Amino acid sequence: APSDPTLVERAARAKAALGDRLFILGHHYQRDEVIQFADVTGDSFKLAREAAARPDAEFIVFCGVHFMAESADILTSDAQKVVLPDLAAGCSMADMAVLSQVETAWELLEDAGVADSTVPITYMNSSADIKGFVGRHHGVVCTSSNAKRALTWAFERGQRVLFLPDQHLGRNTAILEMGIDADDCLLYDPHKPGGGLTAQQLGQAKMLLWRGHCSVHGRFTKSSVDEIRLRVPDVNVLVHPECRFDVVTAADYVGSTEYIIKIIDAAPAGSAWAVGTELNLVRRLANAHPDKQIMFLERNVCYCSTMNRIDLPHLVWTLEELAAGRLVNQITVDADTAHHARVALDQMLALP
Ligand code: 13P
Ligand code: SF4
Repeated sequence: APSDPTLVERAARAKAALGDRLFILGHHYQRDEVIQFADVTGDSFKLAREAAARPDAEFIVFCGVHFMAESADILTSDAQKVVLPDLAAGCSMADMAVLSQVETAWELLEDAGVADSTVPITYMNSSADIKGFVGRHHGVVCTSSNAKRALTWAFERGQRVLFLPDQHLGRNTAILEMGIDADDCLLYDPHKPGGGLTAQQLGQAKMLLWRGHCSVHGRFTKSSVDEIRLRVPDVNVLVHPECRFDVVTAADYVGSTEYIIKIIDAAPAGSAWAVGTELNLVRRLANAHPDKQIMFLERNVCYCSTMNRIDLPHLVWTLEELAAGRLVNQITVDADTAHHARVALDQMLALP
């Protein structure tokens, strides 16, 4: 239980015993009980950079989800070990794009004669396999904080983008930030023959959006925005770009978790905010800013169940095992996949 004082003490003791050998990264969606032990907190982009910037840490304990730990392993040296406190902390969105499905989609683009002019982009929220595919095909990884820059980079190199696996981040960025016509954005459904598109459509689309989404952010609706605006007339609506297009269009501010925190930090006392993102973060913001009115955008509670798998008991177990010289829950990516995925990740880190 989060309030168990002995667990807090045990985590602190094991962390102290590991000293500089250990570095703990915490994503903003993690529970308070875990976040208190993070050396650095951040959005996906910041955490990838932080992992790459810690060459002296022997153990990187990643309090986040599997694709983040994989990316950290790819960006760190072979001598460093990346550890995920619960191996079941996956991401349902990342699971919506499987390598064999992406290879099939690429073959369809080849058959349509347009693969050479297509640049693949994968959201960070994807498996290392998918990032490796994207690296092999001269594409780039993006996060919610640099999707526009990634799309700009891609359209300097090709005529169309295959965007994996979050249709909403892809659509929102293409239409609202790049000015791409909605009619030029087509949904590719990996569960339908031909992706549900004709060869002609495949060739004509500027944005091919993979049919994936975040189950947490998919729950926010336009009607929850309308409803809160009626209830709190001067409310500011702040959402994550994994939300649906109509939600993002109806919002006042859109951005990554790090951006959401910056906006709330800078907001004047007394201002009202409805925040559309995962609940651990919204709760933490509300507690940290008692002078501001911070609400959850949806009436129904939405935690990310896989982020929440990393709890204090798992963290304590992990740290105590490491302190006892037992390497547990290591996340590794095979050398070939890691090599190509790193090309796509380095390309992201180098985006202008
Ligand atoms: P960011 O922290 O990059 O905004 O990502 C949100 C997310 O869904 C991570 O799983
Ligand atoms: Fe995946 Fe959504 Fe959870 Fe992020 S919040 S880890 S995208 S399911």
